[in-house]
Amino acid sequence: MPDFVPVAKTSELSDPSSMLIEVDDRLLVLIHAAGHFYALDDICTHDGGPLSDGPIDDKGTSIACPRHGAKFDVKTGSALTMPATKATIAHEVKVEDDQILVRLTKET
Ligand code: FES
Repeated sequence: MPDFVPVAKTSELSDPSSMLIEVDDRLLVLIHAAGHFYALDDICTHDGGPLSDGPIDDKGTSIACPRHGAKFDVKTGSALTMPATKATIAHEVKVEDDQILVRLTKET
């Protein structure tokens, strides 16, 4: 299983906001919403849109693809609305002091 790697300081991400990060050559969107941090593959499963360029909803529960508007659950990566039907991959996140760490989910 991969290790947790430091990706950003908590002060770098206001709530709500997101940023593009790279972990082991993989692009992820790191999300701060409703007091929690999440990390998803930065890939919309509809047609590869960059989720890091999309808006987070007012409740802090979903992020939308900027290309055709599909929404994904920030926690699980599940596709919530069309045109996406498949989940994007969610990764484990933890915070230690002011450091945000991410552990990649192994693809199946
Ligand atoms: S590429 Fe994301 S909704 Fe189409």
